[in-house]
Amino acid sequence: MNKLTRGETHFLLYKIHSLTGIVPIGVFLFFHLAFNSLRTVGVRQYQFGIDLINNTPFLLLIEIGFIYVPLLFHSFMGFYIAYKGKSNVLRYGYPRNGLYTLQRISGAIVFVFLIYHMGTTVVPKMFYGKHAFEAAPFLIDIMNQQFGAWEGRIYYLIGILSATFHFANGLWGFCVSWGILVGKRAQQNAGWLFFLVGLALAFLGLATVWEFSLHPESVTPSISG
Ligand code: HEM
Repeated sequence: MNKLTRGETHFLLYKIHSLTGIVPIGVFLFFHLAFNSLRTVGVRQYQFGIDLINNTPFLLLIEIGFIYVPLLFHSFMGFYIAYKGKSNVLRYGYPRNGLYTLQRISGAIVFVFLIYHMGTTVVPKMFYGKHAFEAAPFLIDIMNQQFGAWEGRIYYLIGILSATFHFANGLWGFCVSWGILVGKRAQQNAGWLFFLVGLALAFLGLATVWEFSLHPESVTPSISG
């Protein structure tokens, strides 16, 4: 097999970066916000969701393979692209270029938010060894505490809006870069469609924050062992 040239390697890395933003990260974000919004139905329903995740076999391996590794690659490659300053000024007009700048800014914000978010959920869960049915009461108490204070609500507001914008706008970039959206008209229409997708996801996330903030409720393990 021929060795890839520097240009080909770059091209491949850019493509993988664009793809990982949709699969698996975008898919994860969609399910994550949808799963968390079970809290708006009731705390027991939310607990059921967390129980399901935390009783999944090979959870850590699945998380490493499908979430952490792609997320790290996508983040570091994103910083590299932003650092290289590959500009769109000549390719797109003013609104698209503004959105491209916002794409970089929101990506950086999501990165910081994720350090905070995972540092206050998954990391303490692992540190205190809260597995299986022990995870839900522990995580729900953390959420209650975070959403009981204005700082927590504001951090999540910023994190959710940045992540949903970054995903929706990234979906547009992905479709253009992979040749799915070719004509100007199709690109414009898809821009509006993806805006609605982002809005719906943001609504799911913010409704969850709202519910946690207004009705904090603790639970005991569904099954104690
Ligand atoms: C309403 C807002 C949110 C709530 C209530 C929430 C809640 C949680 C909880 C409880 C966990 C720990 C899950 C477990 O270990 O069983 C978690 C993990 C995680 N969250 Fe969120 N989250 C929210 C928004 C977000 C957003 C906007 C992002 C993306 C930027 C995100 C990305 C992640 C990631 C990457 C993990 C670690 C993956 C895992 O181990 O499952 N979350 N979240």
